[in-house]
Amino acid sequence: MESCMCAIGAVCTAIVALRLFRAAFDLFYDTLIAPALNLEKIDWKSLGRWAVVTGSTDGIGKAYAEALAARGFNVALVSRTQSKLDAVADEIKSKHNVETKTIAADFTKPDIYDGLAKQLEDLEVGVLVNNVGMSYDHPEYYLQIPDHANFVSNLINCNVLSVMKMCKIVMPGMVKRKKGVVINLASTAALVPSPLLAVYSSTKAAVTKFTSDLASEYRDDGLVVQCVCPGYVATKLSKIKKSTWMAPSPKRFVDSALATVGLSDVTTGYLPHNLLNAVVNGLDWCSKKLSRWVVLSEMQGVRKRALKKAAGKSN
Ligand SMILES: NC(=O)c1ccc[n+]([C@@H]2O[C@H](COP(=O)([O-])OP(=O)(O)OC[C@H]3O[C@@H](n4cnc5c(N)ncnc54)[C@H](OP(=O)(O)O)[C@@H]3O)[C@@H](O)[C@H]2O)c1
Repeated sequence: MESCMCAIGAVCTAIVALRLFRAAFDLFYDTLIAPALNLEKIDWKSLGRWAVVTGSTDGIGKAYAEALAARGFNVALVSRTQSKLDAVADEIKSKHNVETKTIAADFTKPDIYDGLAKQLEDLEVGVLVNNVGMSYDHPEYYLQIPDHANFVSNLINCNVLSVMKMCKIVMPGMVKRKKGVVINLASTAALVPSPLLAVYSSTKAAVTKFTSDLASEYRDDGLVVQCVCPGYVATKLSKIKKSTWMAPSPKRFVDSALATVGLSDVTTGYLPHNLLNAVVNGLDWCSKKLSRWVVLSEMQGVRKRALKKAAGKSN
């Protein structure tokens, strides 16, 4: 019996190790080897004059807007709060000497797209970053989500509808000019078991599937369509205040993710996230029960601490 358990343990360890090796190789290839060999390098300057970034006043979206301005793009910033848009636009203009345009829109509302299309119609858009996204306040059981109906439709509108609608508005111009890059932000939650985040993770799974099929549909039209699936990044959404190796700053994350454009259709964009992803998927492959139990226990812990903190605040 003991030797049987040892053999199973050894096989599981070997599988996890192989997956880790493959994940590491994939991302080393994407971020180090291929750029060094100049394979499929994106000629950013040739794509068009403008980049459009949704959810661009904070976190990952703001970092994409800054990184694209640094590559010489004028930037159209689309987000919810006009005062924050103005501040980010001023910052980008003074740092990078490019033009900016701000568009205030709430992506939880499905009726904003005619207005958005009008505002973007005259721009030669070379890069679209569909970054806007919302998540849970804290991990929660599906049936216990407060304000259930609004929460579900807001998440679907903001995380999924926004991506599909923005692609419909911007991609025709790219197809006509036979060039363009579309980057859609999903999450590793789409790739690994994510109990207590079921609505969020399923919206991100929809974005991942939509993006990889879109990439195949428009590759022959000269478009690069990429899905980026980050793990934790230190932003307001993740509530992580101090960046670490595993939860990098938005800038560090975006610098790494942008190096993978043109190389990977679906990527975490950041080596440590790829490794974590590989460990969880390796566990899942060995035993679905074990991987789900590990993630569920972790999420139950996070939920318990969040509820305790909220109760402390209301007392
Ligand atoms: N951070 C992570 O750990 C992580 C991990 C995996 C995936 N992601 C994904 O990465 C993307 C960016 O996340 P983040 O962490 O950078 O988020 P964040 O720091 O919370 O920033 C969100 C941005 O989106 C805007 N926004 C939020 N709701 C909006 C709405 N309804 N309409 C218009 N704009 C809205 C915010 O503007 P206001 O300030 O005006 O609200 C802000 O500019 C999301 O799609 C997220 O799901 C993040």
